[in-house]
Amino acid sequence: MQKVLFVCLGNICRSPLAEAIFNHKISQRGLERHFLADSCGTSHYHIGDPPDPRTLHSARQNGVPIQHLGRQLHAADLDRFDWIFAMDRSNHHHILTLARAEHHVKVHLMRRWDPQSDSHDVPDPYYGDERDFQDVFAILSRSIDVFLDEHGSIN
Ligand code: 4NP
Repeated sequence: MQKVLFVCLGNICRSPLAEAIFNHKISQRGLERHFLADSCGTSHYHIGDPPDPRTLHSARQNGVPIQHLGRQLHAADLDRFDWIFAMDRSNHHHILTLARAEHHVKVHLMRRWDPQSDSHDVPDPYYGDERDFQDVFAILSRSIDVFLDEHGSIN
């Protein structure tokens, strides 16, 4: 069982959507027993909050079930998870401030797996519009597909 953690700033837009897309794809691929996914935020701003309504809309529009309540990243997450995906370079930097040397190998930028990457960052859509949420969905969907193509083999 590989444990994966998606990390953004607020844990109401990008990372809960990434978690939901990941869960949907592992269920489509029959990999439920091989992966466990969670998400969190580097900030305390939205602890206990459901995802942003625009995140819920984007997930539902794409047929992806989503259920999460916001929580903040804590140092123990770096021990507990095998893969830690930062949505952007600021999140990545923040995660590394909590990491010991042996954790560094687990911490990655999500767009490392994006075949169409034009940036290192999954752009923060919080002050954006529906189009920005659609872009985030597409970035996450294709990045997670490539990650699972590389690391989701049962054999
Ligand atoms: P997220 O988006 O990091 O993708 O969840 C944000 C959500 C909330 C805030 C910023 C970004 N905020 O400043 O409250």
